[in-house]
Amino acid sequence: MTTSAEHSPTVFMHAYGCQMNKLDAELVLSELGRAGYTQAADVKQADVILFSTCSVREHAEERVYSNAGALKHLKRRRPELVIGILGCMAQKDGPRILKRVPHVDIVCGTRAFHRIAEFVEAARRGEGPILATEEDAFTVPDRDAAVRPNRHQAFLSVMRGCNSFCSYCIVPYVRGREISRSIAQIEEEAKGLVGDGVREITLLGQNVNAYGRFFRPRRSLADVLAKLDRLPGLLRLRFVTSHPRNMTDEILKAMRDLPTVCEYLHMPAQSGSDRVLKDMRRGYTGAEYRELIARARDTVPGLAVASDFIVGFPGETDEEFRDTVAMVEDLRFQNCFVFKYSPRPGTRADRWPDDVPLEVKKKRNVTLLATQETVSDRAHQAAIGRRLEVLVEGPSKKDAHMLVGRTRTNDIVHFPGDADSAGNLAHVRVTDATPLTLSGTVISGSVPSRAGISFRRFELPG
Ligand code: 5AD
Ligand code: SF4
Repeated sequence: MTTSAEHSPTVFMHAYGCQMNKLDAELVLSELGRAGYTQAADVKQADVILFSTCSVREHAEERVYSNAGALKHLKRRRPELVIGILGCMAQKDGPRILKRVPHVDIVCGTRAFHRIAEFVEAARRGEGPILATEEDAFTVPDRDAAVRPNRHQAFLSVMRGCNSFCSYCIVPYVRGREISRSIAQIEEEAKGLVGDGVREITLLGQNVNAYGRFFRPRRSLADVLAKLDRLPGLLRLRFVTSHPRNMTDEILKAMRDLPTVCEYLHMPAQSGSDRVLKDMRRGYTGAEYRELIARARDTVPGLAVASDFIVGFPGETDEEFRDTVAMVEDLRFQNCFVFKYSPRPGTRADRWPDDVPLEVKKKRNVTLLATQETVSDRAHQAAIGRRLEVLVEGPSKKDAHMLVGRTRTNDIVHFPGDADSAGNLAHVRVTDATPLTLSGTVISGSVPSRAGISFRRFELPG
């Protein structure tokens, strides 16, 4: 889909939440693209405004209610405007959305995306409001390889849903049970993406390392990685998010042995306290998580691990929180995402009092982020002088003369260079570092080629 053409109807998409949800937003845009819609450059001019929503924390939902609510005046002025709420929140709140935001025309749950064009058309004919949250057979819309925000990077969903039922988490309720896609389907989609210029694919799943466990014969994520690793033109493969309980030596060995698979593992611990982990129903203790990380690092040289943590889970004491801080100090994560516990209706943890005061949650959030910042700063300072392989993403947002890219271990690197080199690999010597990013200079003439694709050399000006 291109931007707004003269007469075709236009759509504006607001996407919230995880990468899975952002990919769903792309799939919805593909579907609408096939039905003749183009993307509106400006939300105020759009014929259709859609929100692809997240329910993982209350805050994300409140933002959607407030942003969709604010469209009331626009809708009054232009009654033909179609407003849709899609995804996790639609699945969870269903008809309550229409009560709270009566000017909404479409509420489309996580299993009805493939019918979005039909819903939009019906709403434009004045047949709304449309409520589609029933759990019918699950169909993913066909993907249009060209609809994606980055030219050289793309997400690819390999499985959906989750069977883990961690006590705090709403995902199994809004996304349903785990379903893996076939390797043939995944390979076909990957080929289309690589053929359209994608050089890095990130495989997505709420519990991605559990891929294929219900297939007979059983399949594993390692099989998918091995298959895609052979695609000519693909430079890098990643996968998110892994659950510690489902990590296998087979997957770790695939990371070690397959050249495209990056040494990066996003594998949330959620807490360092055994009592909290037990009540979260995570299926491991702090010591077991630490052992798993040690084993992963032994198997995959240079492995970077990123983690998620929830602070202020019901009953979390200062001492239990200190176990989490100790874990972050000890395990030297590449990055940590920290979230304040938010009770989610229908989950097991919602039966327990949300008894850690907001002020304490905020303080613990700041403390944990500061702990990780110290860890990242130390790692980044140690990188100064090193030569790193960077996949060039494009011009830096902050400074148009600089390029930005990522290392295999997902560190962000800024360096001067030619914007034409986006999508190529560069070797960069690190000269400077902050806790968040690295910066450096390209070592000229070191752009490698792989699998029959030749990469243009690019050199530092001057
Ligand atoms: N409250 C706060 N954070 C949560 N997460 C999931 N559910 C909740 C909740 N109820 C966090 C977890 C997960 C990330 C995507 O969001 O850390 O890994
Ligand atoms: Fe949010 Fe979870 Fe839905 Fe992703 S799957 S959008 S994180 S609720």
